[in-house]
Amino acid sequence: MNVRGSLTAGLAKQLGAPTGLRGRLVGAMLNRANRNTVAQAVAELSLPSDAFVADVGFGGGIGLQLLLDEVAGSGQVHGVELSETMLASAARRHRGDIEIGRLHLHEASMTRLPLPDHCLDGVLSINTIYFVADLGSAFAEFARVVKGTGRVALGLGDPTAMHAAPYTAHGFRIRPVSDVIDQLGAAGLTVERDVRVGSGADAVHLLVATPLARTSGSGQIPGVLPAPH
Ligand SMILES: C[S@@+](CC[C@H](N)C(=O)[O-])C[C@H]1O[C@@H](n2cnc3c(N)ncnc32)[C@H](O)[C@@H]1O
Repeated sequence: MNVRGSLTAGLAKQLGAPTGLRGRLVGAMLNRANRNTVAQAVAELSLPSDAFVADVGFGGGIGLQLLLDEVAGSGQVHGVELSETMLASAARRHRGDIEIGRLHLHEASMTRLPLPDHCLDGVLSINTIYFVADLGSAFAEFARVVKGTGRVALGLGDPTAMHAAPYTAHGFRIRPVSDVIDQLGAAGLTVERDVRVGSGADAVHLLVATPLARTSGSGQIPGVLPAPH
């Protein structure tokens, strides 16, 4: 591999698992590059200020900050990451919020979330699914932890634009948007909107999904009996 190829491969590796000093630099770069997408995703969740929410694969942590701002009442934010470097950076930056119980950081995979069933009003996961082989398990976990009245906002690059980016040749799993929507559906999450963030064909897809029970009209979490009238 030539120098350019190994630099690109190194960047791809860092994007999927930010590590060490380079990982921190990549985290800062991600925060700048993805701020608009993450801010739009937070807005799409329509959260009350006492909401319980999670950013799964938070990377540089811009989503944690925006969610903490959004649920500034009695809400709580959960951050889930595999990268120890990203977890340590977030722990340093948000020490005060962690101490008062507004932010909880978890070292875990999105395929096995360390959260109880139906505890969240919103789940955010942006630019993460390229690194996950078993998408069915990840989406089943999103469906398990979100409340019947909650929302999931999943952000992914447009497949054509992603294929054109040199770093994605190094292990990124790029799936057609229709496949991602089908897999969300199979997990029990219906995509209500595909919001495009950015301009032109490169615009990011923000898939906003709700639990099937709500969209089918029952408004009920499966297995939970409706309250008597
Ligand atoms: C490209 S970064 C995106 C970060 C952030 N969401 C953003 O949009 O700026 C992908 C992040 O997902 C994390 N990640 C990869 N696989 C994961 C998994 N199975 N569970 C949780 N996080 C994961 C990586 O550690 C990395 O920080």
